[in-house]
Amino acid sequence: MRNPRDFEKPLAIGAPQPAREIPFKPSRMIHFLDFSNEKMVAKVPDIAPTVDILLGNLEDAVPVDRKEAARAGLIKVGREMGAHSPGGWVGDTALWTRVNALESPWVLDDLTEIVTEIGHRIEVIMVPKVEGPWDIHYVDRLLAQLEAKAGLERPILVHAILETALGVANLEEIAAASPRIQGMSFGPADLAASRRMKTTRVGGGHPGYRTIADPDAEDPELPRPSYQQDPWHYSIARMVDACTAVGALPFYGPYGDIKDTLGCETQFRAAFLLGCVGAWSLHPAQIGIAKKVFSPDPEEVIFAKKVIEAIPDGRGVHMIDGKMQDDATWKQCQVMVKLAEMLARNDPELAEAYGFVPAGA
Ligand code: GLV
Ligand code: MG
Repeated sequence: MRNPRDFEKPLAIGAPQPAREIPFKPSRMIHFLDFSNEKMVAKVPDIAPTVDILLGNLEDAVPVDRKEAARAGLIKVGREMGAHSPGGWVGDTALWTRVNALESPWVLDDLTEIVTEIGHRIEVIMVPKVEGPWDIHYVDRLLAQLEAKAGLERPILVHAILETALGVANLEEIAAASPRIQGMSFGPADLAASRRMKTTRVGGGHPGYRTIADPDAEDPELPRPSYQQDPWHYSIARMVDACTAVGALPFYGPYGDIKDTLGCETQFRAAFLLGCVGAWSLHPAQIGIAKKVFSPDPEEVIFAKKVIEAIPDGRGVHMIDGKMQDDATWKQCQVMVKLAEMLARNDPELAEAYGFVPAGA
């Protein structure tokens, strides 16, 4: 595995210096929009300030006859954002895109036009169906050439979607393939198809995927407790390790059953607890769910602050509220408080809930 910190020089003459560090910014939801739809474009000024990341989708879910319109719509939005920010309607919201798959007839124009026209506005390009480091190397060099041509001053980052069996087999190499790797998203729909899993759902559990207790020895006819299991645990956990090992950020992807808000919240929370920083929102109803789940619980933050205040040097063993605290739990508390502080910087309500400012201040 190559260490991304080894990548010191741009891959094209005149391209910006490679990223040295992946910025850790509010990333609780990547909100997907199809900018070929004029009604959606018209809603951008209202939606953008409510999300951490706005993504112009060009790939799946955009019909073939609207691919070019989606690209043109994204370019228009990128230009408008440029005209109105900073401090305009877009505020701190990041603009991303998901380009078409690397073998598709659209991806070359997607990358060329987007970098040339709005490269200064696009922070991250999401690349679908990444199978190995070779896919990232291809995009890496091409982006460097386009950035040089467009005279960009900062590198555009790359986000890989983990959604093929080969991609999962190679995920550590993908994460380490370039200093541009900002993170990865877990794509349960394509992944299920690629692995021949027998589910037609997009994320979440399945009533058929479960364990069952042995029959009762005394009365084999008694009902046997049975529990649904999480079919995604193994791959999401590997993605979290692969990303965090190189300083990149792991995300859960889509939850397709829009009406099942509890199912969505449960899937998002499982990903949050495993280490993911955010998830996709496919519908406005999922924005609030992601915000709630990926902003740490105020009670946990207040407890973590208490531990840090009680153990200023982070050493030794202590009992706090009946729970053992040591060097390792102190670090766990730091993770919680640092995330809370970062999110609270732009959100007065969260700042108050976490006790960073006095109530009503
Ligand atoms: C997302 O793109 C997925 O395939 O789940
Ligand atoms: Mg997909």
